[in-house]
Amino acid sequence: MRGQHITSAAPCNATADDTAAIAGLHAQCFSLPWDEAAVADVLRHPGSVALVVRAPDSARLHGYIIGRIVADEAEILSLGIAEEARRLGHASGLVAQLGERAYAMGAARLYLEVAAGNGPAIALYQRLEFKRLGVRRGYYRQAGRMAEDALLLGRDLVSNAGVD
Ligand SMILES: CC(C)(COP(=O)(O)OP(=O)(O)OC[C@H]1O[C@@H](n2cnc3c(N)ncnc32)[C@H](O)[C@@H]1OP(=O)(O)O)[C@@H](O)C(=O)NCCC(=O)NCCS
Repeated sequence: MRGQHITSAAPCNATADDTAAIAGLHAQCFSLPWDEAAVADVLRHPGSVALVVRAPDSARLHGYIIGRIVADEAEILSLGIAEEARRLGHASGLVAQLGERAYAMGAARLYLEVAAGNGPAIALYQRLEFKRLGVRRGYYRQAGRMAEDALLLGRDLVSNAGVD
């Protein structure tokens, strides 16, 4: 899949200064937003890896991914792309880069949970060859809304390529 998209910037490590922008993008992408303190808390956790794609003017973020690596397993905790920067390959690049980092840190598999109704994200992960491993019934619960199932997806990480 690499080479099929042109990205305006390569993924790079998030810094402490990106915390507010990540929280802002998270709020744009999800109905249960993480505030700045929640993002900072996740990033402080041992094994956390956070990568961002910066807009060409560097003032804004086009996207972020937050993962966690524990022993030989890695997990995508959150992935979000600014609405104006979607379908440009940013998410694919971020997942690939996280996969490469995780592999280099000893992880053999990459997992994630995605809402069963999140068609764009499911299409993305199918394209990246994640397989459906299970369903967590009623996993996403929010006041005033129907509970939604989560799909558990995963794939093996491979030498050099990570996820591509
Ligand atoms: C899902 C999301 C991360 C995709 O980010 P993106 O940068 O637009 O994805 P990419 O450009 O890397 O897309 C790669 C492929 O995934 C699939 N895909 C991505 N978005 C899609 C959409 N809206 N509809 C159908 N397929 C889609 C396509 O196959 C696409 O390749 P193509 O553009 O050549 O057709 C983005 O829409 C987003 O941030 N959504 C809100 C937050 C979210 O759902 N996060 C994931 C939670 S697990």
